[in-house]
Amino acid sequence: MHVGVLTGGGDCPGLNAVIRAVTLSLIHEAGARVTGIEQGFLGLVERRARPLDVPAVMDIVNLGGTILGTHNRANPFAYFDAGGADVSAAVMDYVRELGLDALVVIGGDGTMTIAHKLGALGLPIVGVPKTIDNDLMASDRSFGFDSAVAVVAEAIMRLETTAQSHRRVMLVETMGRYAGWIALEAGLAGGADVILIPEVPYDVATVVARCRAHQRSAGSTLICVAEGAAPVGGQMTVERRIAGSPDPLRLGGVVQTLRAELEQHLDSEVRATVLGHVQRGGPPTAFDRVLATRLGCHAAELVRARQFGVMVALQGDAMASVPLAAVAGACRTVPPDHELIRAARALGVVLGDQ
Ligand code: F6P
Repeated sequence: MHVGVLTGGGDCPGLNAVIRAVTLSLIHEAGARVTGIEQGFLGLVERRARPLDVPAVMDIVNLGGTILGTHNRANPFAYFDAGGADVSAAVMDYVRELGLDALVVIGGDGTMTIAHKLGALGLPIVGVPKTIDNDLMASDRSFGFDSAVAVVAEAIMRLETTAQSHRRVMLVETMGRYAGWIALEAGLAGGADVILIPEVPYDVATVVARCRAHQRSAGSTLICVAEGAAPVGGQMTVERRIAGSPDPLRLGGVVQTLRAELEQHLDSEVRATVLGHVQRGGPPTAFDRVLATRLGCHAAELVRARQFGVMVALQGDAMASVPLAAVAGACRTVPPDHELIRAARALGVVLGDQ
């Protein structure tokens, strides 16, 4: 059996742990030959692949990024370097030339959408979900999320000491796209006083009132803001548009607007920090290494059982699989009555709406 592996979309802590798990379990359990496709679907278009054997995946379980490289615009159905042309037939030719019996595709919803379309052309595919945003529909938790939350929670603690020293209001902006999972969990873990997420539109007057009261009682205020947070009746802050990407909008910068607004109404100084890609870089936590390993081994099991057109998932505490069609293009946001939201409110954390 000859199996290809690729990582698509943005990088994420734990990708290498999946590559290692898929490779080792296919070699050990099925005597398979494994080939790594370089830079996601770009490698299939540009015909770049290399063998993955036991030495190639040694010592990478704790390594951030992806040893195969990745790309977030290489869509074979609308290829950016060919004026948006459909080059999927050439991709299928290359897969046949390589002699692949199956392809394991590790990526987010954009990658799964492409995987689903290639599956419809006859490519036997098993997907593995990745995203720090934790927003993939069928999986209760995605690897990379725990690592990102750990980085943000530590950043909040570091900002807290400088906030206290200067009696300042500190805003910290997290990633997460259209979902507030990172800001909500990291805000709770870091002890933020205010948490703003896309699912709960905020009222600036409410945030100002909280800051005034907290500055009086505690001397400093920590506000954790998801990049997709928006005021009541307002829009998310778009930082840039990436032509050719399956998900072209990049959010970012909401804390700069908030900083200016808060400064108008507060006597305290206000500072804003955008954490950006530090949330995605570096080693995965032990939790993410284990989750990535479980997902990779389960994907290898499905390949061996020739169950294709599916994505592996964590449901409850068990490995599961769902049709690729069910996850393509879907986004799992925070339900407004989620237990973590109720917990935050019970602690007196302000979510900006009341
Ligand atoms: O989906 C992961 C993510 O890190 C989002 O949280 C963020 O909005 C986006 O990717 C950033 O993308 P890029 O790496 O293209 O700037």
